[in-house]
Amino acid sequence: MDLGIAGKTALVCGASKGLGYGCAEALVREGVNVVIVARGAEALEAAAKKLAAAAAGSPTPFVKHVAADITTEAGRAAVFALGHDFDIVVTNAGGPPPGDFRNWDREAWIKAVDANMLTPIELIKATVDGMAKRGFGRIVNITSSSVKSPIDILGLSNGARSGLTGFVAGVARTPIAAQGVTINNLLPGSFDTDRLKGTMAGAAQKTGQDFDTVWEARKKNIPARRFGTPAEFGAICAFLCSIQAGYMTGQNVLADGGAYPGTY
Ligand SMILES: NC(=O)c1ccc[n+]([C@@H]2O[C@H](COP(=O)([O-])OP(=O)(O)OC[C@H]3O[C@@H](n4cnc5c(N)ncnc54)[C@H](OP(=O)(O)O)[C@@H]3O)[C@@H](O)[C@H]2O)c1
Repeated sequence: MDLGIAGKTALVCGASKGLGYGCAEALVREGVNVVIVARGAEALEAAAKKLAAAAAGSPTPFVKHVAADITTEAGRAAVFALGHDFDIVVTNAGGPPPGDFRNWDREAWIKAVDANMLTPIELIKATVDGMAKRGFGRIVNITSSSVKSPIDILGLSNGARSGLTGFVAGVARTPIAAQGVTINNLLPGSFDTDRLKGTMAGAAQKTGQDFDTVWEARKKNIPARRFGTPAEFGAICAFLCSIQAGYMTGQNVLADGGAYPGTY
């Protein structure tokens, strides 16, 4: 299926690896120009090279990279200093650390809210009116299945991302919806990325089990009996950015191999 977005320009945050990279790759394969962001310059540059090699379409889309912390004002300013009118924005940053809520002080909460709620809101604020004026826009926020099915040790994530989810539900239904702009959240369950490996390594250490035992046990709780891949995640993201998905807005799209047990 031709997604009809060749030649559009996308900002993809947190994209040197993992889910953000998967989204960027799916978009360049559709002929979308991409600007990717992450903090680590070396990995980001390597990712940009890989993306340029994966790019398809005529003319070949450009791949630019900005090494910046997207959760800071300076980081976002560096991205917008490129001067692009973004047609597509994929918001993403690292998730907050696990822990016990009794140990989280105001600073820990502000950091989580900044990264997983206020940063996507700032990015929406900076781009949505331009998109509406041009008559086309797609915003996809990478959130988490924890928004629908909370994970006790990830209270910072449950809380901060729920705030974003509430905001998006409202803003997606404002007049921008009639101006060709959609805003949706894409909720990963368990995907095979460095973040998941880090979480599983932590769980292994805590329980005294070896990594492989914890890794395999986790799969058994997923009806699909496997973890998702960044490429699968990216393909869903690209569809949400397509012209075909123009009538889909304000939604929370779960990709979790069936792990969420609810009917709705
Ligand atoms: N993988 C899963 O199973 C899963 C499940 C639920 C939710 N999630 C959420 O989905 C998001 C992506 O997860 P992932 O698994 O793809 O993680 P990942 O493999 O660790 O990749 C995270 C990417 O984001 C970049 N990044 C992190 N903080 C950033 C910041 N402040 N500014 C700019 N770039 C930043 C990282 O590069 P640098 O570190 O160099 O900046 C890296 O490119 C996270 O919020 C995670 O909590 C993931």
